[in-house]
Amino acid sequence: MLLVHLKATIFRTLPDSEINYAFLKDGRPAFEQLKGRLPREVCDYFDSHQASLERGLIDSGKIDRDLRRAMNLFQQFVHSRKKIQTLIEQPTIEAQARYFSNQWNTPHFRLGLKLAFNPLVLKRVFGRQFGSLAPKQFGDQVRQDLEKVLTTVPLEDNPYVWQTFFGSYPEDALPDWLTPFGHRRMAQVISRLGLEVGDVADWMSVQPEPLLTLVCLSNVLDSGGEPERKRLIEGLHKTMLPGGHVVARSLFNHPIGLDHLSQSRLVRVDVSGWVDRSLMCRNVEVYRWSTS
Ligand SMILES: C[S@@+](CC[C@H](N)C(=O)[O-])C[C@H]1O[C@@H](n2cnc3c(N)ncnc32)[C@H](O)[C@@H]1O
Repeated sequence: MLLVHLKATIFRTLPDSEINYAFLKDGRPAFEQLKGRLPREVCDYFDSHQASLERGLIDSGKIDRDLRRAMNLFQQFVHSRKKIQTLIEQPTIEAQARYFSNQWNTPHFRLGLKLAFNPLVLKRVFGRQFGSLAPKQFGDQVRQDLEKVLTTVPLEDNPYVWQTFFGSYPEDALPDWLTPFGHRRMAQVISRLGLEVGDVADWMSVQPEPLLTLVCLSNVLDSGGEPERKRLIEGLHKTMLPGGHVVARSLFNHPIGLDHLSQSRLVRVDVSGWVDRSLMCRNVEVYRWSTS
């Protein structure tokens, strides 16, 4: 929450080049400059955690830093930085698929993912409840997801690839939100940003009238069962505007099937023709909130 405050204030206040410097290079100058506009607890926290800003704000979150540590291990024990770079630099998709199959898809690579995404390891890293939800074959599932992208989508300008393997983006592989287009879009909407902490179904259940045109449930459906899904659907009934969309992404549930509980209000949108460039958790369903 404190980090989101800082990120939002940067987007509200700074020019484009300084936004990208704070996110990609070093967040400390922006923090120093914006102290007067930040809530007291944000200042106190980052005053005593300046080091978490020094590699840019895209490296300041817990998951960002965990991913960087995991990728350091990946480069040490599975594929070197040079081998990742060589895969990214292949001139065609065919060459990329060939290089993957000859140089990447080694027993070492397969075993590494199996071990890293083993439910026992996930329990240790993310807690008992989360770990016990992961299917036994989760490592194989992650490998298939990775393989799909690494052999079928150009990698050089794919921000997910750079973020995952190198924790940074080169100038021509920026995610949309750090491009001039993203800056303009952000400037139009940032004043409407409200931050809330709590359960999304609880929040939706106390809204007095429908107000949402888009709800993104990213991994929110992984930790609950049928009762939690029902509460979410009730929340959607209270908050969705007709014609709005719900995007659900799940690590473990395939298919997600949120429509079955919605009394025909959630209608699946056919996204089979969309290109998904993300590397993991590629299990995404999109629904339209219909009027009947
Ligand atoms: C993968 S992150 C998604 C972050 C961001 N929404 C996005 O799409 O990039 C999932 C986040 O959802 C939060 N979450 C999971 N279940 C939730 C619930 N029932 N209510 C509110 N937040 C929840 C988790 O704490 C986590 O921060």
